[in-house]
Amino acid sequence: MTTTALLFSLAILSFSLAQGLHPRSCDAPEQGSTLKVFHVNSPCSPFRPRTQLSWQDTVLQMQSNDKARLLYLSSLVAGRSIVPLASARAVVQNPTYIVKAKIGTPAQTLLMAVDTSNDAAWVPCTGCVGCSSTTYNSAKSTTFKPLKCGAAQCSQVPNPSCDGATCGFNVPYGSSAVTATLVQDNVTLATDSIHGYTFGCVQKTTGSSFPAQGLLGLGRGPLSLLSQAGSLYRSTFSYCLPSYKSVGFTGSLRLGPNSQPLRIKTTQLLKNPRRSSFYYVNLMAIRVGRRVVNIPPSAFAFDPNTGAGTVFDSGTVFTSLVKPAYTAVRDEVRRRMGNATVSSLGGFDTCYSVPFNVPTITFMFSGMNVTLPQDNFVIRSSSSTISCLAMAAAPEGNVNSVLNVIASFQQQNHRILIDVPNSRLGVAREPCS
Ligand SMILES: *[C@@H]1O[C@H](CO)[C@@H](O)[C@H](O)[C@H]1NC(C)=O
Ligand SMILES: *[C@@H]1O[C@H](CO)[C@@H](O)[C@H](O)[C@H]1NC(C)=O
Ligand SMILES: *[C@@H]1O[C@H](CO)[C@@H](O)[C@H](O)[C@H]1NC(C)=O
Repeated sequence: MTTTALLFSLAILSFSLAQGLHPRSCDAPEQGSTLKVFHVNSPCSPFRPRTQLSWQDTVLQMQSNDKARLLYLSSLVAGRSIVPLASARAVVQNPTYIVKAKIGTPAQTLLMAVDTSNDAAWVPCTGCVGCSSTTYNSAKSTTFKPLKCGAAQCSQVPNPSCDGATCGFNVPYGSSAVTATLVQDNVTLATDSIHGYTFGCVQKTTGSSFPAQGLLGLGRGPLSLLSQAGSLYRSTFSYCLPSYKSVGFTGSLRLGPNSQPLRIKTTQLLKNPRRSSFYYVNLMAIRVGRRVVNIPPSAFAFDPNTGAGTVFDSGTVFTSLVKPAYTAVRDEVRRRMGNATVSSLGGFDTCYSVPFNVPTITFMFSGMNVTLPQDNFVIRSSSSTISCLAMAAAPEGNVNSVLNVIASFQQQNHRILIDVPNSRLGVAREPCS
């Protein structure tokens, strides 16, 4: 290595250090229809926390975000809403995994959270009051188009308003509110370009619950990326989420039917017309080790009217099971742990300071058993010997208690294939972190 090259590498290294160890691989070009997926706390993410939380605090924070997320998902299945476009409430998410998208001409790079239970895309726009990250500047794009009030998509948003001739709308969320306009521009994902993609351009947010990232909706409804991309992706994609603890590792999001795994176990995708964005499946039983635990079938029954059933979701961290299902799983884990002292941490009620004596937990779907190793159901402290069963009971007491959610912790290091034309969801082990 020449002195100049050495100095140059040192300069890059110190620059990287100044940037908080932002590895150069974060910016490596993406090929074809495959995007890198990284965790929001990874060194590639500008959204990673500035201060290092303790393990306990990290877990508690993820759990409390999950609570808001689960209430949000449940509000979507409650059946009260007949709004065909989920975008209005789509701001409530737990941005865990992000991908890079290029918007406009010339391209502006934005990071967006992937969300398999939402259809809409949201992008913080330049001039946005209350947005906290990189924004999209529509004035600098030659392909930007605001949507007129008469546009079909405009009639689908709740609380629509007409600002001049431009379609706008307001969305309340908890203590927050979001004001956005509906716009179109070209979006490039890896090397694919989608012309005239419709998304919400966020102009104003109040309150603190609005996520800094844009949101890329991968749901199955009419306005999702898959639907808008039409024949390009044919409503088919797969992803592998890296472990939330692995530093610098990226997973992948593969869009379209090409290069999808051929050998993969699959189960039938179910469709709920009243909640068109969700990927429902038929969970039938759960095995702890070799024992199928005793759970009444009603805990898993799919009911389009109440929204009950089981969905795969990338935006919730810890799998949430309806009360009788969770209790049965937990009791069997505790039984296997014998006399070891059980403790709790936040919403986790089955924690131990000795190793877990349960090698696997199996989700038994119709036609597909998915056997998870401990890394997918035990969350371990890096600083102590404590580890917890990383699942929880669904929030109780109202319409919120009917949905089982297979969440991202349980999906890590697995490839999840969504194949809408063939109505199937596939799962295969794949170490991507
Ligand atoms: C953007 O979309 C328009 C059609 O709306 C298309 O003609 C143009 O080539 C696209 N530009 C880029 C950079 O992809
Ligand atoms: C639990 O403790 C009791 C009494 O101390 C003992 O007899 C029993 O073998 C223990 N069970 C296990 C599974 O360790
Ligand atoms: C799942 O495992 C059970 C045994 O626990 C077995 O009876 C069943 O056939 C398996 N299902 C599939 C699709 O392999």
